[in-house]
Order: sequence, then structure tokens, then C-alpha cells
Amino acid sequence: MAKRSGGSSRPETTEQVRMTVPRFVAAKSRGQKLTVLTAYDHLWAGLLDAAGIDAVLVGDSLGMVVQGKATTLPVTLDEIIYHAEMVVRAVRRALVIVDMPFMSFHVSAEEALRNAGTIIKRTGADAVKLEGGVSQAETIRKLASADIPVMAHVGLKPQSVLRLGGYKIQRDENRLLDDARAAEEAGAFGIVLECIPARIAERITGELRIPTIGIGAGPECDGQVLVTQDMLGLTDGFRPKFVKPFASLREVALGAVRAYISEVQGGSFPDSAHSHE
Ligand code: KIV
Repeated sequence: MAKRSGGSSRPETTEQVRMTVPRFVAAKSRGQKLTVLTAYDHLWAGLLDAAGIDAVLVGDSLGMVVQGKATTLPVTLDEIIYHAEMVVRAVRRALVIVDMPFMSFHVSAEEALRNAGTIIKRTGADAVKLEGGVSQAETIRKLASADIPVMAHVGLKPQSVLRLGGYKIQRDENRLLDDARAAEEAGAFGIVLECIPARIAERITGELRIPTIGIGAGPECDGQVLVTQDMLGLTDGFRPKFVKPFASLREVALGAVRAYISEVQGGSFPDSAHSHE
């Protein structure tokens, strides 16, 4: 297995076939559903990879999930690179896709290319993702023509939260279709469909040759993505309808931390089994 050419080379593996962009795209014609989850650090990325996930997304959701900010807008290029480096060091098999932060690709296609190139060179990731369809077609084309694999993201675009006035389901079918077609035509290798009616996602999925990865876009997409901390039941507060908690890790973690506090305070930890002679 070839070593990565990026700034932080990934561990080698001989046990499993590494996911590549062509394999990711080919999954669609084989009818194989693609699985994607977010990770922002080494520990969680390694866990997702060990479980057999197809792709790890270093999402700009890190602004909210990790940094505790109200939106994804403040995330910087240096921050996403810092997190992507940790993720790439842990992943042996999955594709690693890195989000381009707000304002890292809006000023011009040239600046977007420079920033996407910096992400790939410094992290060793496989691909970048950016929010936009028609409005970013020129930029997607520029990146693709420089051989930087780019995933588009249409529907609800969290980086548009100020203009939208909130995180709202997007229902304009013609606009969604135009965005998806423009992204594919410009050379995107895949496309995230966020918070759109399942019927429209099914139509887009049927029309496009590239895989659609849904989040709140119903079951007919070619794959699904969720924020890991949400699907593990680690996050609290508002939970969107499309998030299914596959575990209740927040409860498990709270229970363990409370048990630790109680045992330390009560003097039962550490006992002789956890002490040196
Ligand atoms: O930033 C992110 O995590 C994302 C996914 C949820 C699609 O863009």
C-alpha cells in the first residue's frame, strides 16, 4: 500500500483495501450504500476507521461540536487543517474528506484553489468538500482541473445560516436540481444533500452519476452522513429529526464520571489492585 504524499503520512495497511475516490464513486453503480461520519481528532477517527466506515469527514461542524460556537462560520483554514492532520494520522482505510471553511473559497476560484491545495498538502487528506452548487461551479471546476477531488454540498448549507435566518429545510426543487446538476457538471465526485425532502433527494440521486450522500434527505441517497457525536448520543440539547442516536454514550459517560467522583471521594479508588507495591 503506497504511502500518502501529504504533510502527515498515513499509517500503512495491508489488511484492507483502502478507499479511494474512484472506489467511492464506483460504489454507486454497484448499489453499495456509502457510510460517512464526522471526526475531528485521532481517537474518534481511528475508531470510525476500525469499525469500517467508508469516509471520514472533517466537517466544519467542528465549530459547534468541538469549539462550542453557535455556527460553523468562525472556523478557520488553520483550525480545520490542525484537526484534519490528527484525523489523517489515525485513518488506515477510509477516505478522508476535509471541509473548506467559510470564506476560504468565496473570494475567487484562484484563492479557493490555493486553500484547497494547502489542505491537501498539509494534511494528506483525500478530498475537500465545499458548500455550493451553481454558485460554486467555477470553483469546483478549478479544483477538479487541478486534480483535487471535491465534494459539493447543496440543500441546507450551514454556512448560509445568516442569509437563511436559521437552519431550514430546503424545498425549492428546481433550485436543488440545478445546484446538483451544476456540481456534477463542474466535476464534483460526490455531493452532500442536506435537509431536503426525501422525494427530491431520490430524484437527484436518480439523475446524477456521482454518489449523493444524504443528511436529513431520506433513504434513497447513495449514502448517509451524520455527525458522530450526534449518532452516538453524546451531544445534548436540540436533536434534529434526521438524527438517530444509535447509542446513549452521554449517559454512559456521565455514569462513569459520577462513579469516579464518588469512589475517589469515598476512598474506594484507588484500591490495592490499582496501586503499585
Ligand atoms: O460540517 C459537517 O459536519 C457537515 C456534515 C454534517 C455534512 O458538513
